[in-house]
Amino acid sequence: MPRTEPAARIAVDLVAPAKINLALHVTGRRADGYHLLETLVVFTRDGDRISVEPADEDQFVLKGPQVTHLEADASNLVLRARDLLRRQTGRDDRFSITLDKRLPVASGLGGGSSDAATTLKALAYLWNLDIEEMAREALSLGADLPMCLAAIPLVARGIGEVIEPVPALPALDLVLVNPGIPVSTPEIFGLLASRDNPPLTPLPEAPGLEPLIGWLAANRNDLEPPARALCPPIGDAIAALEGENSLFARMTGSGATCFGLYADQDAARRTAQQIKARHPHWFVMPTRSLASPEGPFHGRT
Ligand code: C5P
Repeated sequence: MPRTEPAARIAVDLVAPAKINLALHVTGRRADGYHLLETLVVFTRDGDRISVEPADEDQFVLKGPQVTHLEADASNLVLRARDLLRRQTGRDDRFSITLDKRLPVASGLGGGSSDAATTLKALAYLWNLDIEEMAREALSLGADLPMCLAAIPLVARGIGEVIEPVPALPALDLVLVNPGIPVSTPEIFGLLASRDNPPLTPLPEAPGLEPLIGWLAANRNDLEPPARALCPPIGDAIAALEGENSLFARMTGSGATCFGLYADQDAARRTAQQIKARHPHWFVMPTRSLASPEGPFHGRT
């Protein structure tokens, strides 16, 4: 008698990259209270890790160095993403999902949104679904979801649902620093002195490192002044990043994580070591952003 083997169970392991707002302008406010933004965003090659595996029963495991502020309940964006896709497809296969949380929570790095987007990608792979179909629905999980699904250098507008890929942006050597204080995004938006600010200036035609730094200096993160006022250690983090090797430093998103930009990987690593030695309790991560892909963009806005 031939033996029937159980179907092979494939585990999908993906990095949920950190989102870095290189510039973020608040240009207005919608009737529902959400703010209109224009933001230049890149994603890093390091981030949280998501593993999804078909299973007999649903399981959700949370682990990793930054797991402390998170609950493994239905409010977690990973499970909300899984449930959204179940509703959309009508399928109810069971999964064991592990979230290895390496990015600080509520830190301006889009961690929760990136985890959710990465869960959608893993399930789309297992279910052979078209990722483009998901972008609009995914907005219900958070304004950063569409950009996290794209995860390439891009300019996002609206509340984050209008996405324009930025071609020819090189990989950037970065250091991320978070002084360990979670910041509430709605609170920072609420503290804005002005909600009608000038839009981003046009990007350089060929955004190599030097023109990019000139462009960054001429643009802003409008959420940085209120975040620094609420959380003064953000100013300390930026000062630490602005060491002798620094090309540029700024806060990302609504904070409190800040990024520094360096000429190469060595300079970024050296700076990270120096900051870590002086501030052992801060989150400090040297990393590199993902360059613009070659060829046409297949995601959807
Ligand atoms: O949608 P998301 O979870 O990213 O946003 C968290 C909160 O931040 C929203 O509930 C809203 O108060 C504020 N927000 C905003 N305008 C945006 C994005 C977020 O006012 N474009």
